[in-house]
Order: sequence, then C-alpha cells, then structure tokens
Amino acid sequence: MILLSPSILAADFSELGNAIRKADEAGADYIHFDVMDGMFVPNISFGLPVLRSVRKITELTLDVHLMIEEPARFLKNFKDAGANLITVHTEACSDLMGTVRMINDLGMQAGVSVKPGTDISVLEPLFGKVKMFLVMTVEPGFGGQKLMPECLSKVKELRGLLNKRGLRTDIEVDGGVTRDNVEKVLNAGANVIVMGSSIFKGDISENVRFFKELFKQYE
Ligand code: DX5
Ligand code: ZN
Repeated sequence: MILLSPSILAADFSELGNAIRKADEAGADYIHFDVMDGMFVPNISFGLPVLRSVRKITELTLDVHLMIEEPARFLKNFKDAGANLITVHTEACSDLMGTVRMINDLGMQAGVSVKPGTDISVLEPLFGKVKMFLVMTVEPGFGGQKLMPECLSKVKELRGLLNKRGLRTDIEVDGGVTRDNVEKVLNAGANVIVMGSSIFKGDISENVRFFKELFKQYE
C-alpha cells in the first residue's frame, strides 16, 4: 500500500485546522509533523502544543519527524501529545537502539531516518525492529527544496536489502517530491510519500486526490 503523508510545514498556519481537514477528507493517510530544534537542523518549526491541537481535529496517524538532538528526552511528551509514529535520526541519537526501544515501549510505531550523507548500512542493525525507515531526499531543515536524485539509489538499495531478508518495512521519502518526480520515488521502492509544498501550496483537496489516484497504479 502506498501512503500519502502531507507535511504541514508547508501549510498556512493561520489556516492550519482547515488545511488538515481538507487533506484528511480528500484521502491523506498520515499527517507528517516536522519538529526542528535549531540544533540538529538550522531551523526551528513547531512542537508539542501544536501537536496537541492537531490531535483534536484528525484521527489520521500523526507521523512525527523529530529533527532534534537526543529525541529520547521528549518521546513521552510526544506520545502524550498524540503522536502515533515517531521517526528519529540516526545522526541525532547517542543510543539509537535504546531510543527505538523506548518508542516501542511507549506504544508507538518507530521510524529511523538517515540524512542524504548517511549510508544506509547504519540501518541494518534495526532490520525487523522498526515500522519504517525514512530516507531524506533533501538536507533536513527546510521545506520547498529540490529532491537530490542520488538519494533515490539509497532507497533502491534499502528496498533490495529488505526484500532479501523478507521484510516488508515501510520506506518513507521526504523532501522535494513533486508531480514531476514522484514516479521515480515510487519506482525506487518507497511506499510512504511525504509532500509539503506539493500538497499545501495550491488546491489541497485536488492535490491529495491527484496523488492518491496515481498511487493506485503502484498497488
Ligand atoms: C524537511 C522536512 C520535510 C519538508 C518537506 O526538513 O522534513 O518534511 O516539509 O517539504 P517539501 O515537500 O516542500 O520538500
Ligand atoms: Zn519531514
């Protein structure tokens, strides 16, 4: 199943509730929630109080992407605020295994992400232990960047390694996905597609319906 995870980083925050409702009603599968701390990435976004508000207006899986140093410090807070799936970065955790274990012990699904410069070999010890791997296709920190095509070979390689082990782990791709390149992303083997600008800039309902329709060809 190919899942669409609209990233609200690209939404108009004065209209956030309406934007999420539109995406939800048009068929989005997840809501992607980018948390940035100004340390792990050179930008600051939003955090727990916003997540609590978002939780009140949608029952969709809240796909929380933590771009913060030592995310283990805040896992319980994100759980209490309504997160269902939490993705942490390999580069941000001093104890990656322990952090993943904490996410699972808190009753959430765990994802682990790599930045463009990080080799996917660091993910192998986590095979079978996480719900999802997130392969970043831009340097994390900002929406609206261009997808780095070389990152798609990492997706392909990772899908190959997972298949070889008989694992059907989700692979999420995040950063610069558009109508023009989404098929390359799907062909590389990703099945959870994050999109900010391509969903929230323009007609949200039409954008969601367009991508969901296209995904049907890949199922
Ligand atoms: C970047 C974020 C992305 C971002 C994607 O650090 O993780 O989720 O919102 O935005 P677009 O789709 O506009 O590249
Ligand atoms: Zn993200």
